[in-house]
Amino acid sequence: MHSFEQWVERNQERIQRDYFTFLRFKTIGTDPACRSEMTACASWLQRYLQTAGFSSRLIETSGHPLVWAEHNQAGPDAPTLCIYGHYDVQPVDPLELWLSDPFEPEVRNGQVYARGALDDKGQIFYAILAALAFQELQEKLPINIKFCIEGEEESGSQGLSDALPKLRAFLKADYLLVPDFDLLSPDEPAISLGARGIVTMEVTLTGSKGDLHSGCYGGIAYNPNRALAELLSQLWDEKGRVQVPGFYDDVGAISEKEKKLYSFRGSEEEYAKQYGIRALGGEKGVSLMEANWFRPTLEINGMAGGYSGPGFKTVIPAQAMAKLSCRLVPPQNPKKIAEQVGSFLTSRAAAGMDVNYRVLSAEPAFRGQAASRLADAVAGAYTDVMQRPCHRILSGGSIPIIAQFQEMGLQDVVGMGYGLPGDQIHAPNEHFDMNRLSKGILTVARTIQRLR
Ligand code: BES
Ligand code: MN
Ligand code: MN
Repeated sequence: MHSFEQWVERNQERIQRDYFTFLRFKTIGTDPACRSEMTACASWLQRYLQTAGFSSRLIETSGHPLVWAEHNQAGPDAPTLCIYGHYDVQPVDPLELWLSDPFEPEVRNGQVYARGALDDKGQIFYAILAALAFQELQEKLPINIKFCIEGEEESGSQGLSDALPKLRAFLKADYLLVPDFDLLSPDEPAISLGARGIVTMEVTLTGSKGDLHSGCYGGIAYNPNRALAELLSQLWDEKGRVQVPGFYDDVGAISEKEKKLYSFRGSEEEYAKQYGIRALGGEKGVSLMEANWFRPTLEINGMAGGYSGPGFKTVIPAQAMAKLSCRLVPPQNPKKIAEQVGSFLTSRAAAGMDVNYRVLSAEPAFRGQAASRLADAVAGAYTDVMQRPCHRILSGGSIPIIAQFQEMGLQDVVGMGYGLPGDQIHAPNEHFDMNRLSKGILTVARTIQRLR
């Protein structure tokens, strides 16, 4: 371990330089203007992994390219660890709230500010650096290692999903490590043994052929904004329960075993103090962490219709639309939930409204295994590095492709991470701490050693 610590210390400057190069690629996966930067970033990663001694390649998909790499120095009898992450990032708007350019990393108070600083460039980068450290320290890798780094995680992983049947041999491994998660608190390490599934959809209500003058047609035409507001307001009852018939059918209660296994944290006071959250959105009578980890939710992520720019426009818009998502828990079926929500929307909208909905992604939740060699190795590695016992947690977020990896036979999955809820992923001024990045390198290196 000592030699790895020294390697990290000796290479601080270069680590930061390469990290910044990675962060400078504008890799907003959903922005067509970023296409060439997506490929440039993937190629850069592919070459970087080559430098670290891996045989690596770009794999074209129906979407953005996939970076794949493997290192089989340990031989056919040694186990194989696959490490999954993503180089795509979320959009940066509202840009005016950033204190520095989201694609020109800046260090302030030891924190690196950039889109992707944590999610997931920072986290996948420390895993790559761990492998690089083995190579430069001339330490033989005790296990075989693969990297699978995609460019569409933030939009549902369609390209990777389409390519999976062809990638079976490429992805064959004993363990899957996903460095795209959080710590429990700044000095309490945790492994994540599951995350929620997700369904995303758009619904559009159309009330007329075109926008209408709200005086000339007011009292005559039904306003689609009103119809949308009325429709969406029916989605929950006063107890916060989703009213879509069948929504909770497959949801079970938490078992005693789960209650013991996971470290439930987070109080109402803490959320109010740290984030200014005073209104609680979950089901009444359900504790915060139970609501976040063990209950499905439905959210309105965006609404648009009519005019909301500067000044005023007296308009009855032709259309109103909303973006909705559901977070799912095992064993909820995402396709079934999407249909249930879709038929709720089409059947409950005001008469005369044309209702159209489109499902963008539908992926189930995943859970790691109860008895897992990988979980033991990562937890042990965290304790070695942070000198603290390692907790077990779940995530309320989603990593869409993991359940498909498991279906392919990669059952032993563990999420790790050095993120903290205050790092502002997906928001303006996302940041990551150089110290935590360094600990990430050591933790992955130690995990590799412990898996031998
Ligand atoms: N890394 C996150 C998920 C996450 C967030 C895990 C916080 C643990 C703690 C991931 O990149 C993500 O944001 N996923 C999206 C997927 C969706 C857009 C299909 C999510 O959860 O919203
Ligand atoms: Mn994300
Ligand atoms: Mn992520």
